[in-house]
Amino acid sequence: MQGILFTLTAVLILFVSFTVSIPIHTKTHKNWDEEKEEKLNSFISALMQCRDSAGMFISLVKDGEVAFTSGYGFRDMENQLPVTADTRFNIGSLSKAFTTALAADAISKNQNVTWDTPLKDILGDMFHLQDDFRTEEASIRDMFSHKLGMPSYWGLSTAGLDMSRREIVMDRIHLEGMLDSRVSLDMTEEEWENSAYSYTHVDGEYSVNPELDQKPSCNVTIQSQNGEGETLIPSLTETHKASTAMGRESPRVQKPAFPVDDMRLTYAMGWRNGMYRGYEKLQHTGSYSSYECHLRLLPDMEIGALACVNSPGDNRGSRSTTLATAFGLDLLLDEDPWLNETTGCTYPDPWARQTPPTPVSFPVRQLQRSTRDLQEYPGTYSHEAFGEFIVTYHAENETLTYRFGILLNGELKPADIVDDFYMTLGHPLTYRMAFFPEYPEGYPIYFGTSEEGDVVSVTVPYFEFSFPPTFNKP
Ligand SMILES: *[C@@H]1O[C@H](CO)[C@@H](O)[C@H](O)[C@H]1NC(C)=O
Ligand SMILES: *[C@@H]1O[C@H](CO)[C@@H](O)[C@H](O)[C@H]1NC(C)=O
Ligand SMILES: *[C@@H]1O[C@H](CO)[C@@H](O)[C@H](O)[C@H]1NC(C)=O
Ligand SMILES: *[C@@H]1O[C@H](CO)[C@@H](O)[C@H](O)[C@H]1NC(C)=O
Repeated sequence: MQGILFTLTAVLILFVSFTVSIPIHTKTHKNWDEEKEEKLNSFISALMQCRDSAGMFISLVKDGEVAFTSGYGFRDMENQLPVTADTRFNIGSLSKAFTTALAADAISKNQNVTWDTPLKDILGDMFHLQDDFRTEEASIRDMFSHKLGMPSYWGLSTAGLDMSRREIVMDRIHLEGMLDSRVSLDMTEEEWENSAYSYTHVDGEYSVNPELDQKPSCNVTIQSQNGEGETLIPSLTETHKASTAMGRESPRVQKPAFPVDDMRLTYAMGWRNGMYRGYEKLQHTGSYSSYECHLRLLPDMEIGALACVNSPGDNRGSRSTTLATAFGLDLLLDEDPWLNETTGCTYPDPWARQTPPTPVSFPVRQLQRSTRDLQEYPGTYSHEAFGEFIVTYHAENETLTYRFGILLNGELKPADIVDDFYMTLGHPLTYRMAFFPEYPEGYPIYFGTSEEGDVVSVTVPYFEFSFPPTFNKP
């Protein structure tokens, strides 16, 4: 991707500001003043405190210029290093819009390729999806608007594969046959000291997450207009058009319960479409290993807001970034913010009833002896794409533990049925147990056997419920 310097809408300058050094704020910006700054700072401080953010970053853009940007809290708690305006956070899925912008540029330049060109026509006969229909019909638009009906493997992405990006691409995705795939491996290598660590917050304590290969780093500068306001990527607007209907958000921030509307209605390509206080909105969130970012653009007003946090890993982080960007947009719109320091912490109360948090308990169960000896389960189970799932037996306390990737580990507790277990999630993913209140014992996991009755495989629905991957013993 390097070397491609092209252009995106003014609002997307946000991305640029995100990777390059920018002034703390631009006092001279016509839409910004000290009063707004104080309001925003107090709001963010309140949010961070009640929602346990270690660090936070916000950037507000109006008319193609940065109106305000600042860091709060810590990027490194141990050494008390602050988040600054140019601290790097992992932006997760916000990179989807970079990808679609690059595709828009390619489409704008190639007469024979459109958004509806089948992927097979570009990638050739080596390209295969899981069935012939998809292989023949899947188009560029289908792919970017998530219409291929492919499993998301969300659980897998929480585990942190113990591989570098190069290995993931070359060894796992770039399998033999995919001779023509082109992936940028030229990540920038410049200094990463000013990157935020990510933290979980459990029982009042912050603990740093293991370091992942999380150097996010293509320095892509994209502008869609030249100095004269001429459009340089005609196809870019297509990436903002609604493609798929989306389910309703929870809570539904909508009148009459709420004082304003903040809706997500459809999915475009790397962007979600919706409305904010009556204005058309493009937005996306990005999350990875306790990093949580929220980016919203109001194209008609040439306004944009981006916020990121580096903890605590559960929905407190996404709430913080949602609310901070909403507050920032209000200030740029010269509207009275509908949120304040109190409601920022009680949200969605008092407007919507908050579902009471499901109590999470990890009862130490009496070990239930399944009819198979626990010593028959340990081993290294592998999957061609995902790598190794390691099960260990501990004779001293007669338990089984498992490990996968960098982050995923825990105990395997026998269920009532032979070869079925519950997997608990150990640090740093313990907080994720709360995401599955229906399984207080742990998430189900199943071992498989050969015809001779030997344990030969393990199937892990945590990785992807609808299409659980099976790991086999060699
Ligand atoms: C990113 O690229 C732009 C344009 O080439 C350059 O001005 C900027 O210094 C680069 N930033 C970093 C952090 O490398
Ligand atoms: C489009 O045209 C270019 C240049 O002729 C060619 O290399 C490419 O294979 C064509 N792509 C498709 C999808 O037909
Ligand atoms: C915050 O907003 C709520 C709801 O609009 C309002 O009831 C409350 O008085 C406000 N609090 C402060 C301190 O302004
Ligand atoms: C059993 O022992 C292993 C290894 O010492 C330890 O990791 C695990 O937490 C123990 N399990 C229980 C339930 O005490």
